Amino acid sequence: MDPGLSLYQLLDPAVLADPYPLLTLLRNPEQMALLDADHSLIPSAVEEMLRYEPPVQHTARIAPEDTTLGGKEIRKGQSVIAVMAAGNRDPERFRDPDLFDIERTDNRHLAFGWAGHFCFGAPLARMGGQIAFSALLRRLSGISLMSQPLEWRENLGLRGLRSLPVSFKPRRAGTQTNQRQLLSTVS
Ligand code: HEM
Repeated sequence: MDPGLSLYQLLDPAVLADPYPLLTLLRNPEQMALLDADHSLIPSAVEEMLRYEPPVQHTARIAPEDTTLGGKEIRKGQSVIAVMAAGNRDPERFRDPDLFDIERTDNRHLAFGWAGHFCFGAPLARMGGQIAFSALLRRLSGISLMSQPLEWRENLGLRGLRSLPVSFKPRRAGTQTNQRQLLSTVS
């Protein structure tokens, strides 16, 4: 099977949203090597990708009544924006928050929101991410970023890439290097 095509299908935007999590891994080659050597780390690596670079950066709520939040007075009807991406790097919550560590165990991040509106699709997204990275690492080796400018989506809330140009070698097909673009259909 064509590795480029199967990779695209595995990174189904409905499940993983984007090839964006792969970018985080590629920007941390020592973590990529660690994961490549030990696939049992895939579940914690997926959680760390979600914590470190959450695809949904923020959400908003309208205050149902006057209240005080973090020392600020909020009036009934005012909008409050919660930046989950910032919460995921809270030094009071996470040890070395700016460190991308796929072996992190205490990792209750906010990438899927919190409480009453916690993401309905989180188990599916988690499972999809784990399956995608498992297949990707089994089929491809030497995945690396190509030196091309990245094209980001222009969406403040849903962070992600329009494409991710990478080079790689199929695991079982000798030494030939392929270059593919992982295209996202989410705009
Ligand atoms: C990596 C993929 C995903 C991420 C990062 C994500 C993130 C989120 C976040 C942050 C929220 C909370 C929004 C808020 O509180 O304002 C949310 C809610 C929700 N998500 Fe996801 N999501 C993902 C995948 C999915 C999938 C695959 C589905 C459906 C199959 C889904 C269905 C929903 C639904 C229905 C809600 C609203 C829940 C409610 O209001 O009670 N999500 N998601």
